[in-house]
Amino acid sequence: MPLVPQHIKDLVPYKAGKAIEDLQREFKPERIVKLASNENPLGPSPKAIEAMHASLSALHRYPNPAAIELRSALAKRFDVKIDHVIAGHGSEGIMSLIMRTFMLDDEEALTSEGTFIGFKVLAQSRGIKLRMVPLKDYRFDLTAIADNINEKTKIIYLANPNNPTGTIFTVREFLEFKEKVPEDVLIIMDEAYFEFCYENPVYPDSMKYRLDNVITLRTFSKAYGLAGIRIGYGFAHEQLICNLMKVKLPFEPSIPAQAAGLAAMQDQPFIEEYLKLNLEGIQYFYDLFDKLGVQYIKTHANFVTIVFENETTVNTINDKLLRKGVIVRPLKAFGLPNCIRVNTGLKEENEFFAKNFKMVL
Ligand SMILES: Cc1ncc(COP(=O)(O)O)c(C=O)c1O
Repeated sequence: MPLVPQHIKDLVPYKAGKAIEDLQREFKPERIVKLASNENPLGPSPKAIEAMHASLSALHRYPNPAAIELRSALAKRFDVKIDHVIAGHGSEGIMSLIMRTFMLDDEEALTSEGTFIGFKVLAQSRGIKLRMVPLKDYRFDLTAIADNINEKTKIIYLANPNNPTGTIFTVREFLEFKEKVPEDVLIIMDEAYFEFCYENPVYPDSMKYRLDNVITLRTFSKAYGLAGIRIGYGFAHEQLICNLMKVKLPFEPSIPAQAAGLAAMQDQPFIEEYLKLNLEGIQYFYDLFDKLGVQYIKTHANFVTIVFENETTVNTINDKLLRKGVIVRPLKAFGLPNCIRVNTGLKEENEFFAKNFKMVL
């Protein structure tokens, strides 16, 4: 088909974790537990549900295009001016907007192998060249990334904590790195899992290092349990934000999404309950894997990545788990074909996973 550009023909689309409905249709297991997409197992915050319900009667109207209330609340919470804040259709929506706004066709993006696949897909869909350096001990190798900056590099994508490894780079590593990045190269700091590790003293909360060429991305999808409504946000220099706002689809995010984000960020007890549940789940997984002698990567997020000998083992284990109703995430598409990622669930979901994982091992 001549009208489809070559880079779109070549594009391998983002494949989300297996859907519960698909598994139900395929294997008809008695029970299904999905621990594949780093979602909050408690559901959305009840306050967010209430706010979404209340917003429905206004759905004949277009949303506030500047998401004023939500951006004001975020500005207040993080002590910046509203002009430094953007809200979007998930943090991935803002990433897509960044690529559309700032990248020219002959410019390049730079990141690590073994990181969030969404960024790779966005870069490829834009037809730009994406260069990747290997992970080092499953962590972003910021020295190697800095060494690979060239005159065409326009955007550097860093995920901290990284998905799917759960590892972080430290304050010291980041401070050294930023000195090596030219001012006309934009650093995307993807902090989708920020809430799980912001209290760690070696974690570089990028909001504390306000630099003109850094954009921080965060989301309500993970800790706040709102993956389905699509709401994320970002912080950057006001010149970056005002240009992003020009290119943004005018009415994103939707009315219920804006309402949900605003209500969820005020529901601190909900977040605390989940963070506690997550820590218990992570410890439960560590104990399980230690007992089974399975290798895994220590995490700073709401998931653990397990390392097997090879891809064949991963495929066998994944297939057997699916037949037993357990959905986890094999990581071939992320560049880690010998790994499986599992996120924490409710206590009984973690136990269901453990029981079946032991059996298939
Ligand atoms: C590192 C990372 N960034 C971004 C996203 C996408 O988040 P959102 O739902 O806000 O688009 C994910 C989702 O898995 C992620 O793991």
